[in-house]
Amino acid sequence: MPATVIVGAQWGDEGKGKIVDLLAQGSDVVCRYQGGPNAGHTIVRDGETFALHHVPSGILYPGKVCVIGAGCVVDPALLVRELDGLESRGIATDGLRVSGNAHLIMPWHVAIDSASERRLGKLQIGTTRRGIGPAYADKAARLGIRVQDILDPKILRQKFETALAEKNALLDEPLEPGDLADRMEECAVRLRPYVADTSLLVDRALREGKQVLLEGAQGTLLDLDHGTYPFVTSSNPTAGAAATGVGIGPTRIERVLGVAKAYVTRVGEGPFPTEIEGPDQDRVRELGHEYGTTTGRERRCGWLDLVGLRFAARVNGMTLLALTKLDVLSAFDELPVCVRYRLPDGSETDEFPAHQSDFHHARPVYETLPGWREPLDDVLEVDGLPDAARRYIEFVEEALDVPVCMIGTGAERERVVTAPGQPAYSRS
Ligand code: GDP
Ligand code: IMO
Ligand code: MG
Repeated sequence: MPATVIVGAQWGDEGKGKIVDLLAQGSDVVCRYQGGPNAGHTIVRDGETFALHHVPSGILYPGKVCVIGAGCVVDPALLVRELDGLESRGIATDGLRVSGNAHLIMPWHVAIDSASERRLGKLQIGTTRRGIGPAYADKAARLGIRVQDILDPKILRQKFETALAEKNALLDEPLEPGDLADRMEECAVRLRPYVADTSLLVDRALREGKQVLLEGAQGTLLDLDHGTYPFVTSSNPTAGAAATGVGIGPTRIERVLGVAKAYVTRVGEGPFPTEIEGPDQDRVRELGHEYGTTTGRERRCGWLDLVGLRFAARVNGMTLLALTKLDVLSAFDELPVCVRYRLPDGSETDEFPAHQSDFHHARPVYETLPGWREPLDDVLEVDGLPDAARRYIEFVEEALDVPVCMIGTGAERERVVTAPGQPAYSRS
């Protein structure tokens, strides 16, 4: 059975957690392929809210194997806290497997992340300050400490000594290798049972015909290579990275399901052409509860940007789209949708600008679609959607040439409309 990638199509927080949770019901293995605790994936089940940071969004179903792949970075203390939190709420975590090749986020990464943001002042990225950039930088520099290193306390202690000989010079409060090793050992004892050869595990699952979901964190426009650099994260959320991040070949992936909000949000700094000016931005934020799951920051809110979304369809090879939070737009009489950008030289384009300066100065050209002004609470099928809502969805499908297979009508797990004729993303 081939694998399916679920990828954020905007700047993150598109509702990936909810969509992965829904699809996980009909799947066997759910894998995270990149990112770390910068992610915050929310699932609302029976009125109870779960915010997942490290753990894949399949964990709420018993019996699913949930993999943290080699492409991820793991903060051991935060992972232990997350597992304890889940277990205290009755969620079994014995299905979790963590790749020994994933890299560890160490306290110095977190300290350096915060210090460099402070140093950048007005130029800061607005990171989640979870140590993501510094951890991936050490990985690329071949200085990283990996999950497999926790299997041997002696190795871990040696690695701390070597690393801190260099890192302590950068820290306001130097760390003592022995203290850190003692603290880490407590996490290590808890995490060792989860460490596994996850590439082999996923390969075997695929060979046995099992359904495998590859869950991205962040979103396309936060991609280190293809996003709005430097206002990006330090890994590759785009679908191509799913194979490497988990350790399978790209030929094993058949479907790429993009997840986009029916509008757009962005947390942190960086250009955002469709950011709403005026009180409608606050309205969208309040109606959509647009506050960060990880940092609690206000999310910046904008109208739907089809230029960005077409770009996401292209760079991910998107085969299907889930459009979330359509219910939030019920409050508006008219809905501007960005169909092109106007560039500083006066030209217009419907392609995402390849050059950073063009994107920074791009102005949105809107087409205004009628709103529907009806709550979507009780809508169970596409036919039950108001005409204007259906038109909104069709407008997106036409612009992207990608079918919309799911429509989010609320935060709760069951508040989703599945389009008929689309592959049965079985909620079996
Ligand atoms: P993720 O990072 O992509 O998993 O998204 P987040 O969980 O950070 O943010 C999405 C937010 O929207 C969460 O609070 C979800 O509970 C909520 N949500 C997801 N889908 C819908 C939807 O269709 N309608 C509404 N109103 N809320 C939704
Ligand atoms: P999920 O998986 C939204 C943003 C940060 C910052 C930039 C770099 O929940 O969609 P980092 O800490 O990664 O170095 O920050 O990326 N960012 C996210 N924005 N959702 C996320 O994850 C994000 N993860 C990072 O706000 O602008
Ligand atoms: Mg999120």
